[in-house]
Amino acid sequence: MSNQLQTDNKWSEIEERLLTPQMVAAAADLTDHILASCPDRLAHSRAVARRARFLALTVEPQCAPLLVAAAWVHDIGYAPCLRESGFHPLDGARYLRRISWPPEICNLVAHHSGARFVASVLELESQLGQYPFTQDAVSDALTVADQTTGPHGEAMNTEERMSDMLRRHGPDSANAVAHQLRQPYLRAAATRVHERLESMGVHTELTTAAA
Ligand SMILES: [Fe+2]
Repeated sequence: MSNQLQTDNKWSEIEERLLTPQMVAAAADLTDHILASCPDRLAHSRAVARRARFLALTVEPQCAPLLVAAAWVHDIGYAPCLRESGFHPLDGARYLRRISWPPEICNLVAHHSGARFVASVLELESQLGQYPFTQDAVSDALTVADQTTGPHGEAMNTEERMSDMLRRHGPDSANAVAHQLRQPYLRAAATRVHERLESMGVHTELTTAAA
């Protein structure tokens, strides 16, 4: 490798490491601002970010800022000022793309918690398809952080969370219609994250106060 290439690579790494802590802070500030009129949703988002910070154990260290930043902003699409399609993962991702946030964060927001299954019911598949989905440790951790945090920020296990979601959204909701297809994905993501934690000697049922 030439000296120039080595230097370029080193600068890229330095710039990335300088940038990423700012990304988390920017995500927190943006969420505080956009969800200021939605206190419950803001409390949930803060708790999901805390949970993601713990679950960052299950991702490559360089991906931790991406995970935590995505956790902060994952639900901003609920804010009335961002409402377009009415499907919050899509509306949040569209907004983040519009303000030039990194594509990786836009994609994670678009697909958090198995959004693609609900998008199919809502006939928003093609719109959501503009954001590529990658099933990996980061998307798993984001989904599990969300699925172990209740609507007011309280800790829940994944089964409680799914039951609560169905009760709140109602039996005719897109979430309920998508549930049969979505729940295996949510459970599988929780199992994968659980196994990653176990492999590091961290024992948790992904229930309460693991963080
Ligand atoms: Fe959420």
